[in-house]
Amino acid sequence: MDQKHIRNFSIIAHIDHGKSTLADRILEITETVEQREMKEQLLDSMDLERERGITIKLNAVQLKYTALNGENYIFHLIDTPGHVDFTYEVSRSLAACEGAVLVVDAAQGIEAQTLANVYLALDNELEIVPVINKIDLPSAQPDVVRQEIEDVIGLEAEDCPLISAKNGLNIRDVLEAVVERVPAPNGDINAPLQALVFDSLYDAYRGVVAFVRVKEGNIRVGDKIRFMATGAEYEVLEVGIRNPKEVKKDMLECGEVGWLCASIKSIRDVRVGDTITSAARPAQNPLVGYREMNPMVYCGLYPIDSAKYNDLRDALEKLQLNDASLQFEAETSQALGFGFRCGFLGLLHMDVVQERIEREYHIDLIATAPSVVYHVYTTDGNMQHIENPSMMPEVQKIDHIEEPFVRASIMTPNEYVGAIMELCQRKRGNYKDMIYIDANRMNVVYELPLGEIVFDFFDKLKSCTKGYASFDYELIGYQTNKLSKMDILLNGEIVDALSAIVHRDFAYPRGRAICEKLKKLIPKQQFEIPIQAAINGKIIARADIKSLRKNVLAKCYGGDISRKKKLLEKQKEGKKRMKAVGSVEVPQEAFMAVLSMD
Ligand code: GTP
Repeated sequence: MDQKHIRNFSIIAHIDHGKSTLADRILEITETVEQREMKEQLLDSMDLERERGITIKLNAVQLKYTALNGENYIFHLIDTPGHVDFTYEVSRSLAACEGAVLVVDAAQGIEAQTLANVYLALDNELEIVPVINKIDLPSAQPDVVRQEIEDVIGLEAEDCPLISAKNGLNIRDVLEAVVERVPAPNGDINAPLQALVFDSLYDAYRGVVAFVRVKEGNIRVGDKIRFMATGAEYEVLEVGIRNPKEVKKDMLECGEVGWLCASIKSIRDVRVGDTITSAARPAQNPLVGYREMNPMVYCGLYPIDSAKYNDLRDALEKLQLNDASLQFEAETSQALGFGFRCGFLGLLHMDVVQERIEREYHIDLIATAPSVVYHVYTTDGNMQHIENPSMMPEVQKIDHIEEPFVRASIMTPNEYVGAIMELCQRKRGNYKDMIYIDANRMNVVYELPLGEIVFDFFDKLKSCTKGYASFDYELIGYQTNKLSKMDILLNGEIVDALSAIVHRDFAYPRGRAICEKLKKLIPKQQFEIPIQAAINGKIIARADIKSLRKNVLAKCYGGDISRKKKLLEKQKEGKKRMKAVGSVEVPQEAFMAVLSMD
């Protein structure tokens, strides 16, 4: 098919505004998926995505559409996640497109990630097609939202499609808008091959499967290709598209989006963002890749069963192939043994990776509390990046410490502005600005330490605004603050995995809260266990876990052996997620105790 009849687009939106539901309807209306095979959120293929109702990984499908002008079109639709942590995935999918359908909820209006996604689309020079969804809701205000789109984003929205993705209303309008407004690809079929790798996964039988957008030239089975960043060369064994089932083809043409395999066994050869070219007739330059994303939060991941250390490395490598923003390196902890320090884009990302490792690779994990990256200036004039509090240099050698700050923009109905300001103040925020979005909603701008956001900012924000506020942030730089490492001692011994970096003005209450929390979380044992918080060797808080008196089996005296067994079985289950730290058994929750305290 000639390129004039190809349209490559993504759907972008704030979380829950209905991207995946719209994608489902589009699959139905184009008869890409037969009715009986249709299940909800078809593109969310990961179990985790279905359960949580969120999109994590992007997905690309090819659709056929006959437009009202009677012509046949091929669409490549790339679904994207909406959560702030997965911006990286969004920018990847956008780089493979010419246009983006922007879904805005008719009852909620523009939210923080609506804007963040619009900026990403503009960065990629995409044509944006606004669509107002959920017009079936009684609270829908399509006219107000249309005005918002014009005023806040500056997009022409007068005749933007008004749809209900849930009820399948006016979906065709969206497709017609795509045909009319999204530009067709304009690569040169005869130019040397340039294909952007925008995703990849590892298949046990076929090796690495790379997802590509062919920008110039074409790729045929049997071609010799070269990955421009790594220089690795392979012969193409299979190419194809997804609809959403895999369909093999002889070639991927200029302008198309599809996948290829070349019996690539080395995960490292394929980098997302790299350009594939022809080995025989290479292109001069690679395509513009993506902005490298630096992890914002780090935590240690340790296998509960230390024999699984290598399996964990394997799992992380495979996940990384498919999630370039995940970083890891080996580390050891006195308390937890051998594991990895992993870097993530945010807390949800961290949570998802952990859960994928446990589910898809069956490795039980202990995760330490997340930490941001601090800049520690030592008295000898050097600066170290510290992402693990236990690696902090000795206090005598520290000149000063800087922490990362973000500019947070919080969109909220007017009535919650007071509560939000109070929360930001408590989180050591600096007030910056307040902008009216419309008569009822505001955008409140604060500069906040990222470390505080990593704590429990999200949860607190949700609860103080009944879930009505939305939130987005970007890193703006580092600022010096009064920071210190706080150690936690169990039974007199420092547990490195529990160390945290805290602001000195907040150290006493935080130390006390952690001790109390640990006291609740760590089960009683045969002996009394003191829990202490210390800064620079000085104890600032303490709580004691009383020793255990009762034997769990005592209740089962004289009894039936099966009951005893059951009880022991239950105890064993509870133990699964414990790690012996010195002489004390510590459950997983304890390592996260520093996170949620009040
Ligand atoms: P993420 O994938 O997590 O980013 O969310 P999403 O934007 O894909 O939203 P999704 O399609 O999962 O929809 C979120 C919720 O809104 C679901 O409960 C949908 O059933 C509901 N929803 C989607 N479209 C409509 C609509 O047109 N009307 C109504 N009433 N509800 C809708």
